[in-house]
This record gives sequence, structure tokens and C-alpha cells, in this order.
Amino acid sequence: MSKIRAAITAVGGFVPERVLSNKDIEKMVETSDAWIKSRTGISERRLLEPGQPTSFMAIRAAQDMLKNHNVSPEDIELIIFSTVTPDMLFPSTACIVQDAIGATNAWGYDLIAACSGFVFALTTGVQFIESGKHKKVLVIGADKMSSITDYSDRNNCILFGDGAACVLLEPSQDENGVMDSILHIDGKGGKYLYMLGGGSLNPPTHETVDKKMHYIFQDGQPVFKAATKGMADVSAEIMEKNGLTADDIKYLVPHQANMRIITATASRMGVGMEKVMVNIHKYGNTTTATIPLCLYEYCKEGKIQKGDNLIISSFGAGYTWGAIWVKWSI
Ligand code: UT7
Repeated sequence: MSKIRAAITAVGGFVPERVLSNKDIEKMVETSDAWIKSRTGISERRLLEPGQPTSFMAIRAAQDMLKNHNVSPEDIELIIFSTVTPDMLFPSTACIVQDAIGATNAWGYDLIAACSGFVFALTTGVQFIESGKHKKVLVIGADKMSSITDYSDRNNCILFGDGAACVLLEPSQDENGVMDSILHIDGKGGKYLYMLGGGSLNPPTHETVDKKMHYIFQDGQPVFKAATKGMADVSAEIMEKNGLTADDIKYLVPHQANMRIITATASRMGVGMEKVMVNIHKYGNTTTATIPLCLYEYCKEGKIQKGDNLIISSFGAGYTWGAIWVKWSI
């Protein structure tokens, strides 16, 4: 029996309307538009309104996918929801989305791998298609980073934004699909990027709130160094492993944490910046949503064609990192 391959057959996305520009942030903390642009590549980001949870965006992204690709929600068999900002710790946000979109025959769960969340969730979803267990798997990446960002901390508030996007996985009908993946974790990196409060280690108290333990903490420089090396290494590794050269690649689809990390990864792969998907300038770091939002927008704009080789690559808290080789199927 020939191997079943998983293919991305539909995409959807959603970003909130409210824009937080660098000029707006200049009024909140001591920083400048010039510093933010030159050190990160970010000009603005989108923020969801208070009271609207992560699922608000994810439901709209999923509905966008269902409508535009003519997919019936009852046909979805599994929902894998990647996020570090679930609506609540439980029930899972997968359950909330399942109910809202009418995916009455699906099971599902949430998955945490921070900025590598979508890469880990996509690889997990692929296994359910390749094994023959399921025929339609919805993989969602969504984060409301504004809900865990301290807007008085200039080290972090310049970086993050809110967004959601999703892909549908189905058995491939041709030679295209998700070809290979390489994933890593290293818990030694945990001390550089985390949120201390709210879990079983530090349940919420007045003290955890006073000490700002429910916000992201990041020691930027070590994370920057590890991300630059990790993303570049794993991207080069997946190309070498599969005998791919820069000429074979249509697009690098990197996690969008810092334009300098993206440039370093492209340079290591030997691909020019015209072959790199970028949305960091307009959305900032939307954590698990950066990569599917790139796929969604470039697909919608007709910039990717069936058969194009994409290298998806990420690095995030944990540390977590990885790369996926996809031959585009839409
Ligand atoms: O997505 C998950 C993975 N995350 C990442 O990959 C993020 C990795 N880290 C980074 O992207 C960068 O480290 C940052 C963008 C967070 C920071 O950039 P940096 O070039 O590493 O800056 P730095 O922390 O070394 O700070 C350089 C200077 C410092 O001033 P002094 O000590 O040299 O006087 C900071 O105080 O820049 C100062 N600074 C700022 N100045 C203006 C830090 N934040 C700001 C700011 N505006 N917002």
C-alpha cells in the first residue's frame, strides 16, 4: 500500500481591526519608532478589544476557511488548537471553537509550544492523516498576546500583536503535501522566556498580580542568539536532508519575532529576501499565528502556486524550534 501524504488544502485567517502603531507606543513607554523599526522590523501590530478572547479570532479564521474553500464543518474530524493564550485553562479552546463553528463530528485539543506552536501542531496533525485515522484535520494557531503583555515594559510591549489563522489537512491527491519535518525542544532555555504566574506553580494571588507575574518575561539577548542559530540551523538541516538547494525553494516561511533573525535564517539558506514571507512589519510577533497568517495572506494574494516548495521554520519559548518542508497543494 502506498504511503498516505498529508496536504494543506484550505487556509483561513483573521486579524483585529485596531492598530497599535510605533507612534502610539512612543506615548506609552520611552522608545522611538526608529529604534523599534531598526531593531525589530515592526511598524505596527493589531490588538483585539478587551473582553474578546483568543477564540473570537480563531472562530473567524476557521469560518473564513470553511466559507472560502467550501468545506462543511460536520466533515472536520479533529481540531488541533495551538496557543499560549487560551480563553481559559479549561475547557480547551479547541472545544469552544468546535462548538462555535458547528464541527459536530470533531474531537480536539489544545497544544502549547509558544512561537513554534503552529509548527508542532501541523506536524501532529499530519500524523493523523498519514496514519489513515482521519481525512480532515483543522490546525489553528491563535494568540491574544495583548492579554499577557505589560504595556509599561518597553522590552516586550513593542514586540507582540494579536492574530489567528488556520489550515485544513487532508490526504494528498498528488505528489504534493507535507514532505518532512524536524522538531526540537530544549528546556534549558526556559529561564529566558516565560510567564511565571497563573499555573500550578504560582496560582493567581494578589501577590502574583502585584509582582506582574501574569505577563511575558523575556531576556531578549540570549533568546535572540538562540533563535538566530536555531532557526538557521534547522532550516539548513531540512534542506540538506532532502537534497534541496536555494533554487528549489519558492519561499522561506519563518516565524516573525525579529526581522534580523529572519534575515539571518534566509542568508544561511542562501535565499534572497524576495523569497521570504514577511508580515512582522504590520502584525508584530503574533506568536503561534505568524506562520499560518503568512501562508493565508500569500495564498490569498496568489503568490504561491501548487507544487511550490516552502520551508517553514520557527523558534520559541521552551526552547522549541523546528522546520517543515511543504510542497504547496492549493
Ligand atoms: O518569538 C519568540 C522568540 N523571541 C525572539 O526571538 C525575540 C528575541 N530577541 C529580540 O528580538 C531582541 O533581543 C529585542 C528586540 C527584544 C531587543 O533588541 P536588542 O537589540 O537585543 O536590544 P537590547 O536588549 O540589547 O538593548 C539594547 C539597548 C539597551 O540600552 P543600553 O543598555 O544599551 O543603554 C536597552 O535598554 O536598547 C534599549 N532598549 C530600548 N530602547 C528603546 C530596549 N528596549 C528598547 C525600546 N526602545 N523598546
